[in-house]
Amino acid sequence: MDWGLKNRIARIISPADNKALMLAVDHGYFLGPTEKLEDLEKTITPLAKYCDSLMITRGALRTSVNPNYPLPVVLRVSGGTSIIGEDLSQEDITVSIKDAIRLNATALAMSVFVGSKHEYQTIVNLGKLVSEAEEYGIPVLAVTAVGKEIGTKDARYLSLACRIAAEQGAHIVKTYYCENFEKVVKSCPVPIIIAGGKKIPEKDALKLTYDALKAGAVGVDMGRNIWQSDNPVAMIKAVHSIVHGSNNAEQAFTMYKQLSQKPNQKPNNNKPNQKPNNNKPNQKPNNNKPNQKPNNNKPNQKPNNNKPNQKPNNNKPNQ
Ligand code: R5P
Repeated sequence: MDWGLKNRIARIISPADNKALMLAVDHGYFLGPTEKLEDLEKTITPLAKYCDSLMITRGALRTSVNPNYPLPVVLRVSGGTSIIGEDLSQEDITVSIKDAIRLNATALAMSVFVGSKHEYQTIVNLGKLVSEAEEYGIPVLAVTAVGKEIGTKDARYLSLACRIAAEQGAHIVKTYYCENFEKVVKSCPVPIIIAGGKKIPEKDALKLTYDALKAGAVGVDMGRNIWQSDNPVAMIKAVHSIVHGSNNAEQAFTMYKQLSQKPNQKPNNNKPNQKPNNNKPNQKPNNNKPNQKPNNNKPNQKPNNNKPNQKPNNNKPNQ
């Protein structure tokens, strides 16, 4: 694999633990001003420091993200439909590769609608996008979109959709968690990341995260279950403690509840110095310094990116 491609993938899936926490805020591309995402900047700013990358559209990035912030961007480049239209599957590629490069995208993301009326168009678009993006060493994340039927797709369907996306050359596949998720992971030769889906209780979203990782997903690309939570920062920290830490779902939920308590309730009486990001000892969330600018002089620096012999996807030999 090309050095640039490997390097970009390593900025999304951490080589330190082969895990990824992506924050998804691209929903407006077909949902418009989704609840709690009406003000993009207000939603993204407090959460950005706790994720590895941001999944976002061109327009949202330009208007609502500080370009000085060194966060890898997974740029959504497909669209063309809306939630009030007739058919969500009729997507096309809406962003040129030149613009993606101008925006310093680390990866491109697009949806494939396998089994839909427009599956041909979206699958061919994926193949073409991979060919074009690979010329510049840019990885492509394929989203196995399920239109308005989220929650009704099983392991058989998701295995089919993920495998087709991988066979077209997608470097990472994003899909939905389901029963027998191991089957989906085992039959997909590239890393799988799960979407969070519609808002569910925090306890359930943390269980979903834990179960998906246990079944072999490398991480989450989570949106609504983080920023529609009553306590988005507490929630992303709890998700982080599963993805990059050693917490199980119960422990992460306890952490969420503690972090959600009001400051004067002193949640961590016994462990006043305990930090949420146990496996990133040098990465401080700057809780006490709200105006401090994050690492302006070290763009894109991550703990282990500069270890050339470290393979990010050891367990995916066919990639
Ligand atoms: C949906 O099409 C978008 O790609 C979202 O990024 C994706 O669904 C993940 O967000 P959520 O966790 O809210 O499902």
